[in-house]
Amino acid sequence: MSKFEKDFGTPASPSDQLVTLEIDGFKATVPAGTSVMHAAASIGIEIPKLCATDSLEPFGSCRLCLVQVEGGRGYPASCTTPCADGMKITTQNAKLAEVRRGIMELYISDHPLDCLTCSSNGDCELQDMAGAVGLREVRYEPVKTHLNAEKDDSNPYFSFDPSKCIVCSRCVRACEETQGTFALTLDGRGFDSKVSPSQNQAFMDSECVSCGACVQACPTATLMEKSVIEHGQPEHAVVTTCAYCGVGCSFRAEMRGDQVIRMVPDKDGKANHGHSCVKGRFAFGYATHKDRITKPMIRKSIKDPWQEVSWEEAIDYAASELKRIQGSYGKDSVGGITSSRCTNEETYLVQKLIRAGFGNNNVDTCARVCHSPTGYGLKQTFGESSGTQNFDSVMHADVIMVIGANPTDGHPVFGSQMKKRLRQGARLIVADPREIDLVKTPHVKASHHLKLRPSTNVALINALGHVVVTEGLVDEAFVQERCDLVSFGKWKDFVAEQRNSPEASEEITGVPAAEVRAAARLYAQARNGAIYYGLGVTEHSQGSTMVIGIANLAMATGNLGRIGVGVNPLRGQNNVQGSCDMGSFPHEFPGYRHVSDTATRQLFELNWGVTLDSEPGLRIPNMFDAALDGSFKGLYVEGEDIAQSDPDIQHVHAALRAMECVIVQDLFLNETAKFAHVFLPGSSFLEKSGTFTNAERRISPVRQVMAPLGGYQDWQVTQLLANAMGYPMNYSHPSEIMDEIARLTPSFAGVSYEKIDQVGSVQWPCNDEAPEGTPTMHEQEFLRGKGRFMVTEYVQTQERTNRQFPLILTTGRILSQYNVGAQTRRTDNVAWHAEDRLEIHPHDAEDRGIKDGDWVGIKSRAGETVLRALITDRVQPGVVYTTFHFPESGANVITTDNSDWATNCPEYKVTAVQVAKVSQSSEWQRRYHDFTEEQLHLLDQASLHS
Ligand code: SF4
Ligand code: SF4
Ligand code: SF4
Ligand code: FES
Repeated sequence: MSKFEKDFGTPASPSDQLVTLEIDGFKATVPAGTSVMHAAASIGIEIPKLCATDSLEPFGSCRLCLVQVEGGRGYPASCTTPCADGMKITTQNAKLAEVRRGIMELYISDHPLDCLTCSSNGDCELQDMAGAVGLREVRYEPVKTHLNAEKDDSNPYFSFDPSKCIVCSRCVRACEETQGTFALTLDGRGFDSKVSPSQNQAFMDSECVSCGACVQACPTATLMEKSVIEHGQPEHAVVTTCAYCGVGCSFRAEMRGDQVIRMVPDKDGKANHGHSCVKGRFAFGYATHKDRITKPMIRKSIKDPWQEVSWEEAIDYAASELKRIQGSYGKDSVGGITSSRCTNEETYLVQKLIRAGFGNNNVDTCARVCHSPTGYGLKQTFGESSGTQNFDSVMHADVIMVIGANPTDGHPVFGSQMKKRLRQGARLIVADPREIDLVKTPHVKASHHLKLRPSTNVALINALGHVVVTEGLVDEAFVQERCDLVSFGKWKDFVAEQRNSPEASEEITGVPAAEVRAAARLYAQARNGAIYYGLGVTEHSQGSTMVIGIANLAMATGNLGRIGVGVNPLRGQNNVQGSCDMGSFPHEFPGYRHVSDTATRQLFELNWGVTLDSEPGLRIPNMFDAALDGSFKGLYVEGEDIAQSDPDIQHVHAALRAMECVIVQDLFLNETAKFAHVFLPGSSFLEKSGTFTNAERRISPVRQVMAPLGGYQDWQVTQLLANAMGYPMNYSHPSEIMDEIARLTPSFAGVSYEKIDQVGSVQWPCNDEAPEGTPTMHEQEFLRGKGRFMVTEYVQTQERTNRQFPLILTTGRILSQYNVGAQTRRTDNVAWHAEDRLEIHPHDAEDRGIKDGDWVGIKSRAGETVLRALITDRVQPGVVYTTFHFPESGANVITTDNSDWATNCPEYKVTAVQVAKVSQSSEWQRRYHDFTEEQLHLLDQASLHS
């Protein structure tokens, strides 16, 4: 626990019935089901406690919280006693004090008496309770049950010192109830019992995923962040938002001076309710890593050493180069890329700079390569480019279908929430080529794992639709009332065709027809069926078709417009939703309004004081093609690493080399910066203010906790560049940028920093119709009016296996690393994942004479790379899998330039490859190594030339 938040001892009751009782003579009115302990805390009466904490169900083991109930017998534990109308409670009297002192004596007799030198001193509940019960001396001889236990320092972020353990089991329960990993066990009885990772393993050898929930729950210094041990207790705290994934967890940055001591998940966070994963909780050290570049740098050519210069010189050089290029090659020869890692305000400014300052619409974002099909597919069918629910909705789902997503790795805190619902009895359908953790995890087992072949999603969704339509499972009332009937008729006839039956598509998908039929019935007949999907849906040549197929299925079964259902894209990066909302796509202004729409354009022209282009600009892949054609010469990239994250990177690298001015604004000399001519130091989320919008459309505050190491927040740098380009910007705080966004974007009309400060976070649309935001979309009607069905013909990808490339490579993420890894690789998270490996099925490995750990060459039509093999039956025969967190792995050397027909989202998930045992790195890897060495050498010379 942390001294910065109040602990009510037990969770709040959700009941809307109220009961009134009297506690120590004071009246308390609370929801029925509230514990006496919680009720007392709510009126400021703190009952001593040890085993209770309000993030966990009450356990009733320590007996410290005893109270007296008038007319009752004995002394019940207040944490397990529910309030009842008319109850009269006494929390303090001589008898209770004596019992509590006795209990505390027993605890203290088996606890080291080193409070003054203990790292928890001042933030230890045992110490507090000893004081609270007035314990002055201990009459018993020290007990040695725990005192000699050995410390486990194996986890890089926290230590486990069992000599201080009071066996309250809060950690065990946190691991079970909150995280759902069940990594800890409690062995033995009473005071002799011991807590440890299962089978007495060290933490690092156990199932533990380092989420920190046990550390958070521990009332003593037994489980303790190493950063607190090293630097001391934090002194103040600021609530902000995690900058890693699209869950958007709320955290308290707990500080000493301007140093972050620890990040503690905020109980009031509406996306995470006090839970965290290893990245947000512990992996923040990159912000002050020695690799940070904090001085602006320029150079004429990428063969030249970098030169450190003043901000003024760097900005002037960047602006003059962009102007020179536009003068020589035309207005459209420059563009920019916004970042889903940056705040809404920063993203808004970058697209504004490009549209108003550069005078074209050549702006795109990394959402191009992840969720652009979501934007397209959901806009076409529902009328809005976003997920339909909040995360808490999953707690009301009866059947959960997860398609092409791996929540426990990609969206861990939401994964834990989903597991909690599954443990309560919701049924699970997983559609994924690979056996993700969710398929079988403690107390959770998928009812159906549809282990389809990569690239066959659309055939599968059509087969599911076929069953719904032909077995009378359509929610006719919903369709009649809420959907466009002509489009429904066409879709119905289409999916009903025999060629779309599970039996006919079995040959394509590889999923047994009976399994598909059973899954379709389960989903369609659920009271509440919810679909969650990820990049395994979107990153295909038919990504948009599949999103539409999912929307069709949800509409046909009436699973939209209320809590517990919906179509929920699990957005990858922290602000990928926001970067799309903020007008990062070349064809859309903020709020998804097309640039050709005259009224919208006039609105922005009036506000921005310029004439705007009505033609959509270049998408990222078009920018690369144009660079190689010689018509695109200058690029401003804020917070993106396109030279690692985009597909077919040899093509990307060639395009970057062909440009005359690449401006990179980032924390580190990332892969793209190796091709840059101007480097502008970026600021981490700890160094700036703004907002992020998570996968639930939730706009959450990012609050500055330390000064930007480079001197400026990212939005300020964009503003400097705009002014130097001759387009004036004069914001003095990001709240002014949000005010402008709200003024120009109907779905953000009611958003302001004031509102966010008041309510914590808000889900858009937030406007006059929904001043408190919108947890569930399309409740009365779809945003477009009637829900529109669309025919989703399955078209086989062009990426085919053959004798030369017989296996399909698919890619994904792992819990401990994040995307291109620029941040997580610079933290102790490498202890879990220090390299990308190629997962291969034992049969495929045996055929090729490959053993676990062997170096294997992976060759596609685009290129070749070398990784170490990991033999596992998580992947099916014929499929290999890797992550892409390390640039030297070159996963994107092999991915091809195939892309989604509607949005150009790359087909990362399907690459035909051959795999063979090799003894040395690939030619590309050797070239990469030499180029990196050269660029690091040129970086080393930067300060020499300053
Ligand atoms: S860190 Fe998380 S996963 Fe590991 S033991 Fe603690 S609660 Fe369980
Ligand atoms: S490690 Fe901490 S939370 Fe776990 S039983 Fe011991 S004192 Fe309680
Ligand atoms: S789940 Fe996502 S947002 Fe939450 S702590 Fe982990 S990385 Fe951060
Ligand atoms: S706090 Fe109630 S029994 Fe431990």
